[in-house]
Amino acid sequence: MTKTKLVLVSLMVAATMLVSATVSVAAPIVIKFSHVVAENTPKGQMANKFRDLIAERLDGKVVVEVFPNSQLFGDNKVLEAMLLGDVQLAAPSVSKFEKYTDSLQIFDLPFLFKDMAAVEKFQQGPVGQKMLMSMKKKGLIGLGYLHNGMKQLSASDPLRVPADAAGKKFRIMTSDVLAAQFEAVDALPLKKPFSEVFTLLQTRAIDGQENTWSNIYSKKFFEVQPYITESNHGVLDYLVITSTEFWMDLPDDIRTEVKKALDEAIAFGNQISEKKAIEDRQKIIDSGRSEIIELADAQRQQWVDAMKPVWKKFEDKIGKEYIDAAVASN
Ligand code: LMR
Repeated sequence: MTKTKLVLVSLMVAATMLVSATVSVAAPIVIKFSHVVAENTPKGQMANKFRDLIAERLDGKVVVEVFPNSQLFGDNKVLEAMLLGDVQLAAPSVSKFEKYTDSLQIFDLPFLFKDMAAVEKFQQGPVGQKMLMSMKKKGLIGLGYLHNGMKQLSASDPLRVPADAAGKKFRIMTSDVLAAQFEAVDALPLKKPFSEVFTLLQTRAIDGQENTWSNIYSKKFFEVQPYITESNHGVLDYLVITSTEFWMDLPDDIRTEVKKALDEAIAFGNQISEKKAIEDRQKIIDSGRSEIIELADAQRQQWVDAMKPVWKKFEDKIGKEYIDAAVASN
């Protein structure tokens, strides 16, 4: 090879290396967002909004892929998958973190928050903000709270007073507080993933479950549950979560933009959650498939009296000062 040819070949090799280096630097960061609910729910809408905002603002730099309906991971697997780096964002119900932290169990205490405004006030206060970081050492960071709404009780038989629930099997999320709540009315709680609830109800393997109007409607639970007691006995809220490793590895400017888009998407989800609850409740009534039982004050008081002792049982684990702060937000 002549000297000139050698120089030319070397230049070409260098150019190829430069191009491939540029290509690999330019490859977008992929954020897989896995969740278990339908798209037409506050969480489904929030996730899609986040994806769209990122596409508008960080086109080519970051791509968000949303996987609804437990398509990628069910709620029993998603946190482990996040720690392994197989998924970057999720928003499980706050009831699904008991393996990682005790403090979030506060949200499962029955009849603690009087409405979603109280939940919001508590979350934005010092205790709620501190809880976002309660799992940092275990590799998970809370990026914000997302609302769904108050939970109702659905069942194959009418539930008017606690004695009606005695001996019945209820699906619950993976929370010992929720187990204690059903045990307090002599019912039998079963921890099962969300993706299994419809079949369990349809086949009558269980008698009932607790959930929000939007989940009862979008997952068609009302088609296989002839009664829904409007108990508003607890809250279903979500923690938008990522892994500490993924979050800290993001370039600063990208992390700032991603957080901004996420905050906006959460605000959007929270804004529609109340409206969705009203709309989906009405759609269930219009379907004629399920009777909605409104409790008289004395009946509701019976549920409160039966379930509230659960607070005392978990006081040491959760922290009395946390419970006091939640009560003060009402
Ligand atoms: C449930 O498992 O019942 C809910 O947490 C599902 C969800 O994410 O809304």
